[in-house]
Amino acid sequence: MAPPGLVALLALSASLVNARLQDGRPHGNAPPIPVLPVVEVLDSRTEAFQFSGSSIPPYNTVYYFDQLIDHDDASKGTFSQRYWHTWEFYQPGGPIILMTPGEANAAPYFGYLTNTSITGLIAQQEHGATIVLEHRFYGLSNPYPDLTPESLKYHTIQQAIDDLEYFANNVALPMPNGTGVTPDKAPWILVGGSYSGALTSWTMVNKPGLFWAGYASSAVVEAITDFWTYFEPIRQNMPVNCSADVAAVIAYVDETFSGENTTAIDELKATFGLSDVTHLDDAAGALRNNLWDWQSLQTNSGPGTQFTKFCDALEVKDGEVAGEEGWGLENALASWGGYWRDTYYSLLCGDANAEDCFGSYNASQEIYTNTDIDNTWRSWFWIVCNEVGYYQDGPPLGVDIKPIVTRLVNVETNYDARQCQLMYQDTYASPPLPDVERTNTVYKGWDVSIERLFFANGLRDPWREATMNAEGVEIQSTDRQPIVLSDGFHCSDLSAARGASDASIGALHKQALESMHNWLAEFTSSA
Ligand SMILES: *[C@@H]1O[C@H](CO)[C@@H](O)[C@H](O)[C@H]1NC(C)=O
Ligand SMILES: *[C@@H]1O[C@H](CO)[C@@H](O)[C@H](O)[C@H]1NC(C)=O
Ligand SMILES: *[C@@H]1O[C@H](CO)[C@@H](O)[C@H](O)[C@H]1NC(C)=O
Ligand SMILES: *[C@@H]1O[C@H](CO)[C@@H](O)[C@H](O)[C@H]1NC(C)=O
Ligand SMILES: *[C@@H]1O[C@H](CO)[C@@H](O)[C@H](O)[C@H]1NC(C)=O
Repeated sequence: MAPPGLVALLALSASLVNARLQDGRPHGNAPPIPVLPVVEVLDSRTEAFQFSGSSIPPYNTVYYFDQLIDHDDASKGTFSQRYWHTWEFYQPGGPIILMTPGEANAAPYFGYLTNTSITGLIAQQEHGATIVLEHRFYGLSNPYPDLTPESLKYHTIQQAIDDLEYFANNVALPMPNGTGVTPDKAPWILVGGSYSGALTSWTMVNKPGLFWAGYASSAVVEAITDFWTYFEPIRQNMPVNCSADVAAVIAYVDETFSGENTTAIDELKATFGLSDVTHLDDAAGALRNNLWDWQSLQTNSGPGTQFTKFCDALEVKDGEVAGEEGWGLENALASWGGYWRDTYYSLLCGDANAEDCFGSYNASQEIYTNTDIDNTWRSWFWIVCNEVGYYQDGPPLGVDIKPIVTRLVNVETNYDARQCQLMYQDTYASPPLPDVERTNTVYKGWDVSIERLFFANGLRDPWREATMNAEGVEIQSTDRQPIVLSDGFHCSDLSAARGASDASIGALHKQALESMHNWLAEFTSSA
């Protein structure tokens, strides 16, 4: 199964319906969602099977839990929350391992029940049962039948945390003794990646004692409004000639678009096939797509990935590869522009015109007005606008780097906040800034200090700078709260296969499994 990443999108998107991109982004200037990778189900156990003498239901069986709509007011009633579950490895006394894929329809993620993921590896080693729970407001787990701002009132980090608590305390699991394994009787382990990795940390902070242990992969624990550092792991790890040439082009773009020479401005837009784009910040911001392709490298490594093709287009000239300095502005402009006009534009936008594909100013577009459920991006952007930010924009002035992203897209000009207003019309009187201070105060962000919580991060993860391995933050790893950095990308370590193919991830898995083993030995039932 292909992950809903951008490379998969590029391969698929010949036709683009009303400029909605295949990864759920409403247009080419909407920041990508930090989804976690889908893992394969090796045995494709989508039929009942025998294991250790028991008949186990198919992995993809959907179960439903009556979840409270509003944890502050039970009179609002309940909604059906979907989950998946297996007990193939379970033995009495074993842990219950709960993971949520967070901001996605959870149906493609049932592989996380199995030993192709870290969740299943823990279950296999510790004789536990696994659960994949769909997060409220994603997929088919919705309190109300639409995603209007009125319904989204109940879409908050706190309600999601309260969901986990209410689920763990009240679910009757479809397994032997399935009502006798609540967190007071059995050790529960919470697992997540990316946003749901952060949710793992935030939940353990907010509900001490509920989960006995946690595994948080690429957890973006710190909410950051101006998240320009998203592009830092990319800049640091991409080929140096490529970053030199990208920086040369971006410097020219910013200078030209900030100036008054309309001939030069029009020429530059035309270079990338973006003449139809009305606003210059949208045109300059569109060039972020080539860098956003980096996020998909984890699942499409090696030559042939879109990011690699991009750097090859810039750096290989007449069969010759540029040295460290790159080829310089003139060649970079011509080759980057040619790459856009010849292949990239249509991969990204299909037949859509450039304004529909990259414009972020038109409130009448269906992408802003459609409030149907199962629209990941709409649900995710609500959390972005209100609680976490993570705006992937250009670096502030004065930062001593050569930017690879335009400064025309920034927090001061409300580039993302303006889109919040369009998306949730009549919700905000002015462009909103998320209350990240509250998020980081209530859920502790980088200041988390919790027993039995394992943080797993990736050096090349673009989300690294919001994790416990952010540069310059220097948080101490301890036996009780290990912080382990592999060579991986975003949430690579959730996959068992990655542990086999990358030694640093293999070592991380070993350490995590040892920690879980030791921590579970400390559990004593309170019932
Ligand atoms: C994974 O689990 C299956 C049972 O679902 C088992 O047959 C297989 O051997 C396990 N794989 C590994 C590597 O342990
Ligand atoms: C069922 O769960 C209870 C509470 O954890 C436990 O005491 C009992 O031994 C369990 N029974 C079986 C058959 O596993
Ligand atoms: C130059 O770019 C090419 C193509 O991306 C890359 O393979 C090579 O490693 C780069 N070399 C240097 C010195 O950056
Ligand atoms: C404006 O830009 C064009 C195209 O780059 C250039 O030829 C021209 O000299 C510029 N005009 C001025 C006044 O700088
Ligand atoms: C805005 O979007 C609507 C709906 O797609 C379209 O009819 C209209 O032409 C657009 N306006 C502009 C200025 O692009």
